[in-house]
Amino acid sequence: MIVGFIGSGNMAAAMARGWAGSDAGDPPELLFTDSGSGRATALASEVGGGAAESNSELVEKSDFVVLATKPGALDEVADAVPPPKALLSLLGGTPLERVTRLFPDTPVLRLMPNLAVEVNRGVICMARPEQTDPELAAEAASLLAPLGTVIELEDKFMDAATAVMGCTPAYFAHVADVLIRIGIEEGLQPAESLAMVSESLAGSADLLRHRTPFEIRVAVASPGGSTEAGLDALEEAGGGEAFRKAAQSSLTRMRGD
Ligand SMILES: NC(=O)c1ccc[n+]([C@@H]2O[C@H](COP(=O)([O-])OP(=O)(O)OC[C@H]3O[C@@H](n4cnc5c(N)ncnc54)[C@H](OP(=O)(O)O)[C@@H]3O)[C@@H](O)[C@H]2O)c1
Repeated sequence: MIVGFIGSGNMAAAMARGWAGSDAGDPPELLFTDSGSGRATALASEVGGGAAESNSELVEKSDFVVLATKPGALDEVADAVPPPKALLSLLGGTPLERVTRLFPDTPVLRLMPNLAVEVNRGVICMARPEQTDPELAAEAASLLAPLGTVIELEDKFMDAATAVMGCTPAYFAHVADVLIRIGIEEGLQPAESLAMVSESLAGSADLLRHRTPFEIRVAVASPGGSTEAGLDALEEAGGGEAFRKAAQSSLTRMRGD
């Protein structure tokens, strides 16, 4: 199985590292292109794949082509390549209908992965046209399985999904950064503070599989205690509202409002 990435940026690198680092099954062979930066060659030598001379060469050689450019490059790429055997579009805020119109002879699936695919703990939302061959959809799902949890969605929900799972690793990283700095200001070693915060995030994520967010809050914040004081201050500073605004701004940008 050959997977070719048109575009070798952040998300292509994360998915490629996820496949290269996985010990589940046979990893796909990987091919890459870029628009001249040299990132394709660098990524190929990092993960053990190859760089193609052109998008057309990559398309001809690949079983699945991953469209991993920014959305603005879609028309230019579509104009210049032969029909891929199957196309996985990562383009944010770009409905399936728009991509299928440009690739009428190709089965197209839309994916919204998050950066944690790099460590095989990603979420990958997948939308497909109704007429998609079920065998192809199953093949794509099993190809993606080593990268994390695959969730099938209707295309109309992909923007919402992007706001809650695509963008959020950056929000969690922002919260982590603030907490790590506080630990350091209070005298912890940077590595200690990082370990405490990252393990707390990982443990809280596991807890969320067993308990509701409300239950976790109540169990940690005893009345009159230090966590309650912290939560009160967070609300007073608009903590919850700030995240609502962040998600809303992402949705507005995606929808081009
Ligand atoms: N980053 C995320 O966490 C994330 C999450 C979900 C979805 N996505 C989606 O994934 C896509 C890529 O995002 P990104 O963050 O990886 O962007 P990025 O880091 O800017 O990478 C874009 C890549 O596309 C290449 N490119 C542009 N035009 C090209 C062309 N005509 N032919 C071949 N390659 C071309 C660029 O080449 P150069 O290297 O030469 O500039 C670059 O390697 C976007 O559509 C985004 O919405 C990203």
